[in-house]
Amino acid sequence: MQTADLIIKNARELVTCSGGSNKPKIGEELKNLYIIENGWTAVVGNMIAAVGTEEEVKSKVEITDKTQIIDAAGKTVLPGLVDSHTHLAFGGSRENELELKLKGVPYLDILAQGGGILSTVRATRSASKEELKEASVKYLNQMLAQGTTTAEAKSGYGLTTEDEIKQLEVIKELNEEHPVDLVPTFLGAHAIPTEFKGGNEDRFVDIVVNEMMPAVKEKGLAEFCDVFCEKGVFDVHQSRKVLEKAKELGFKLKIHSDEIYPLGGTELAAELRATSADHLLVVTDEGIEKLAEAGVIGVLLPGTTFNLREDHYAPARKMIEKGAAIALATDFNPGSCPTNSMDIIMTIGCLYLRLVPAEVINAITINAAHAIDRAHLVGSIEEGKQADIVIFDAPNHQYLCYRFGTNLVEKVIKKGKLVIGGF
Ligand code: NIG
Ligand code: FE
Repeated sequence: MQTADLIIKNARELVTCSGGSNKPKIGEELKNLYIIENGWTAVVGNMIAAVGTEEEVKSKVEITDKTQIIDAAGKTVLPGLVDSHTHLAFGGSRENELELKLKGVPYLDILAQGGGILSTVRATRSASKEELKEASVKYLNQMLAQGTTTAEAKSGYGLTTEDEIKQLEVIKELNEEHPVDLVPTFLGAHAIPTEFKGGNEDRFVDIVVNEMMPAVKEKGLAEFCDVFCEKGVFDVHQSRKVLEKAKELGFKLKIHSDEIYPLGGTELAAELRATSADHLLVVTDEGIEKLAEAGVIGVLLPGTTFNLREDHYAPARKMIEKGAAIALATDFNPGSCPTNSMDIIMTIGCLYLRLVPAEVINAITINAAHAIDRAHLVGSIEEGKQADIVIFDAPNHQYLCYRFGTNLVEKVIKKGKLVIGGF
């Protein structure tokens, strides 16, 4: 019998989120968390070696005086949270947009006037790699302290080959140095840079496809490729060009689609068998059906809807009813959603997407892991998975969605090591 390095015992609710490692949870299954009351978890090295009742765990691993013990009595234990959509590495910040927004200036108008994403592009281009890294480390520390142990991270604020690579290199270094695991996405097609506006937009798409993408591929800097398919940004034809080339080069695909205007980006994601289609506020019924049919995950970003003061949230209930898989993420970025906290996403997910807490929790763990192709490794507390575990000072899982704006994380274990909180 192997000796446990770490035991987390007596969790009031050990929320395993199990049963979905092969396929994302859909329909009624999204409500099943497979909670073990008074649950025990054993860790050997960086992996989970046993999960169950005290008796079950003790029959599988040996506990010696070298085994470290965490008593989780009265607490709720979850798999490390997975933030499957972030724009982590950026220069500057955009608190100046808050008052513009209050005056009623729409998000796409700020962008069209050279602000919004484009102001972050200027700040990111002028930041050194070290400055970008320093800012990102701060954001990652905040995320880890709030229970996020794996996150996707996009480029998209460089918009030149050199600056996109700079962002992706920062993400690569952080992935090697910081406890939070990062999954890198190339988002060269995030906005039309000012220098290509007024007639040269297609030329920019050509550069994304023929220069940036092969350079990123050659350096092995991104696993996914994404595009912002939106009115006044990249249309469906341009988005198709980006994603088809990405697929040809071996990237997995994501798309920002149906956020403000329904252009058909979600249907494109289904056709190209993207891993996920993200935002989906105005997705059509046909789009939902196609997602469900193609097994593309809808990554919903309700923090963005909230922060942009949109009155219409993504039709999460309808998506679940029609058998589409959903995940929830922050969309952390300096403009449309400046929070990197999953806590507020959980509450907005309940109140405005009308999900029950169990659905929210599966959507930020196992289904989110699928959205970044990591479900074989993370997203649930099951034997053989990476030991990424969060202990919340909460009596049950519903409490996590209810106490918004309060960080209830007490301890975080990443790859078997205690990285937040003490013994
Ligand atoms: O996902 N929609 C496009 N991109 C980001 C926003 C980026 C920004 O405002 O800087 C998003 O919302
Ligand atoms: Fe985004």
